[in-house]
Amino acid sequence: APGIVVALDGTSGSGKSSTSRGVAERLGLRYLDTGAMYRAVTCWMLRHGVDVHDAAAVAARADEPRLESGLDPSAPTITVDGQDVAVAIRQADVNAAVSPVSAVPEVRARLVALQRALIDEALADGSGIVVEGRDIGSVVWPDAQVKVYLSADASARASRRAAEEGGSDVAATEQSLLARDQIDSGRAVAPLVMADGAVHVDTTAYTLDEVIAQVVDLVAVVG
Ligand code: C5P
Repeated sequence: APGIVVALDGTSGSGKSSTSRGVAERLGLRYLDTGAMYRAVTCWMLRHGVDVHDAAAVAARADEPRLESGLDPSAPTITVDGQDVAVAIRQADVNAAVSPVSAVPEVRARLVALQRALIDEALADGSGIVVEGRDIGSVVWPDAQVKVYLSADASARASRRAAEEGGSDVAATEQSLLARDQIDSGRAVAPLVMADGAVHVDTTAYTLDEVIAQVVDLVAVVG
């Protein structure tokens, strides 16, 4: 499916990453994790002592972190200022700070521009790409041929995520997911919404393979 953009949006822990990577691997597409980019900027802010709850302070430095995203779905990479932050961006300090940082318009403007450039590059290479995030179908790439909105019950999301994290506390994980959802859905700029034309897939009762198959079928229909 060359030339195709698959926009995969949804709440935290709905299975976006595993689904996006699986779809990209099965169809031979590139893969971009935009959440990792917001997390990497957050990691940079924390390392540089920026108060992540001070929107003006974050905005003032939004152009500084130099990000590089690798687009291979079987081995995605993310660096900031040349440093590999793949592990650091999944830590609790980043989980707690990423939503306020992502609500800052200057951060979003910068990352949306970078994301569009990466998508353009993949398309220019004759490839297609699966892009996951919160605002891909609504803001970053409204012309995506396939738009999917993934959701799942909070308790299902929390137990999956806690298991991924090697058995962290499910109740605490659920609180952290819900806190992020609330900020992401309530922010003024590019809140999490179901994009026009998106297909809603509730993953609560499905296995990962079943969800991947559903999205692969949607891609087959358009291209
Ligand atoms: O997808 P992930 O859970 O890694 O995203 C982390 C955070 O990054 C989200 O909670 C949200 O605040 C932010 N984000 C965003 N827009 C995107 C992707 C992620 O605001 N396109």
